[in-house]
Amino acid sequence: MRVTTHNTAETIELGKRFVRGLRGGEVVLLIGDLGAGKTTFVKGVAKALGVKRTVTSPTFVLMKVYEVKSQKSKVKSPSNPCSPALSPAPPRCAVKNLVHIDTYRGLSIADLENVGALEYFGRNDTICFVEWGEGLEDYLRARKIRTTVVKIKNIDSETREIII
Ligand SMILES: Nc1ncnc2c1ncn2[C@@H]1O[C@H](COP(=O)(O)OP(=O)(O)O)[C@@H](O)[C@H]1O
Ligand SMILES: [Mg+2]
Repeated sequence: MRVTTHNTAETIELGKRFVRGLRGGEVVLLIGDLGAGKTTFVKGVAKALGVKRTVTSPTFVLMKVYEVKSQKSKVKSPSNPCSPALSPAPPRCAVKNLVHIDTYRGLSIADLENVGALEYFGRNDTICFVEWGEGLEDYLRARKIRTTVVKIKNIDSETREIII
C-alpha cells in the first residue's frame, strides 16, 4: 500500500489506521531519513492504542516502553486471550505494551539486549516499532518473528510518501 500524506496530522491518522491490521507480536521496521515522520507515525499508533503518555523520540535512550491502557484500538484480540489451553492455535492476547526503539546511533544487538529490547520481540502482548531498523530484518526472520516494513519518504516539507 502506498499513501501520500500532506501534513503531520495525516501521518498520525495513518499510524492510527495501521494499528487495525496488527494483532500483537509484530515488529515494525520504520525506514526513512531523519525528519521523515517515523516518530510521528508511532504517535498515531500510540493514540489508537490508548497510550496515555506522550510519545517522544527514543534516540538517546534507545527504547521506550509504553503501557497500553485501553484497547480503544482495533488490534484484533480474541475473547479468550492468552490461553493456550483453550485453543490449539497460537494464543493471541491483548496488546499490553507498545515498544518504541530508535537505532539511529547504530544498530547493535548487544545494545538491544542490554536494554531488554530483544525480550519484547515477537511477544504476543507487545507491538514493537524500530526506527532505522532495516538491519534487523535477518535477525527477525531467523527467529520467525512477524515483521512489517514501513517506508517513509520525504517529498517536500510537508508531503510524505508512505509505503506499507
Ligand atoms: N506529512 C508529514 N508526515 C509526518 N511528519 C511531517 C509531515 N509534514 C511535516 N512533518 C514534520 O516532520 C517532522 C517529522 O519528525 P519525526 O516524526 O520526528 O521524524 P523521524 O522520526 O523520521 O526522524 C515533524 O516535525 C513533523 O511535524
Ligand atoms: Mg524519530
